[in-house]
Amino acid sequence: MARLITITSGKGGVGKTTTAINLGAALNGFGKEVIVLDANLTTPNVGLHLGAPIVPVSLNHVLLGKAKIGDAIYEHESGTKVVPSSLSVKELRRLNHGKLKEVGKKLRKMADFVIYDSAAGLGPEALAAFDAADELIIVTNPEIPAVTDALKTSKVLEELGKPVKGVVVTRVRGIKTEMPITNIRDMLELPILAVIPEEKNMQAALVMKNAIIHTHPRSKASRAYRKLAAKILGNNEYKEKYTFVEKIFGV
Ligand SMILES: Nc1ncnc2c1ncn2[C@@H]1O[C@H](COP(=O)(O)OP(=O)(O)OP(=O)(O)O)[C@@H](O)[C@H]1O
Ligand SMILES: [Mg+2]
Repeated sequence: MARLITITSGKGGVGKTTTAINLGAALNGFGKEVIVLDANLTTPNVGLHLGAPIVPVSLNHVLLGKAKIGDAIYEHESGTKVVPSSLSVKELRRLNHGKLKEVGKKLRKMADFVIYDSAAGLGPEALAAFDAADELIIVTNPEIPAVTDALKTSKVLEELGKPVKGVVVTRVRGIKTEMPITNIRDMLELPILAVIPEEKNMQAALVMKNAIIHTHPRSKASRAYRKLAAKILGNNEYKEKYTFVEKIFGV
């Protein structure tokens, strides 16, 4: 039976989809069956990131009762499975967000992990992805507006009684004007699960329609995502060795 994890954020554009697909790919790399579901129905991106932008059967068809969830699962060349959404303005009004939870129940039997890539904020589709989840991860950047919005999300999740596993701080550049990680942890009163550095090859991975952990497996961001996956699997001591060349010249 799968664990159902929703990746969410207060502010948009902080790195949720990137985190969902890389966490999924890293868990898959550790031998787990993973399904990443695009629960961001109004601005779907999972398909774009993993090269399935237009598919014959999408999550939208399933939520409209026109198809079965099994027919909307596609296997990426890396082995990670995805359920893409396809935005159609015509369908938008008719979508039944509540059905996301029902879909989760079915997917639970098909994998070890189901990862919901949610919409930002607290709109109906984000709330539906909260409701469907066993546990949630909040993604933020190390900037005051993003962390303030993350705090709002965490308060709502607390009120809903939904367990938040912790926070992923991403696009960290290590510059003076960023919020320090300790301040983010203290403000959100949540464990920091991972710190993902700003990665120069992220756009290249996007163009290659693959997760950075596959396109640039030795990058620091890839290492950080594998460490996050290990933590999700209960291994807090996971460490990777750097080669001599990597130590001298960096990765
Ligand atoms: N660690 C990183 N280094 C560099 N660029 C990154 C990193 N993480 C994400 N990005 C880039 O930031 C942009 C936004 O990322 P992403 O689409 O994952 O955000 P999101 O939170 O899912 O956005 P939305 O709220 O619109 O769904 C993308 O162009 C992505 O490639
Ligand atoms: Mg996204």
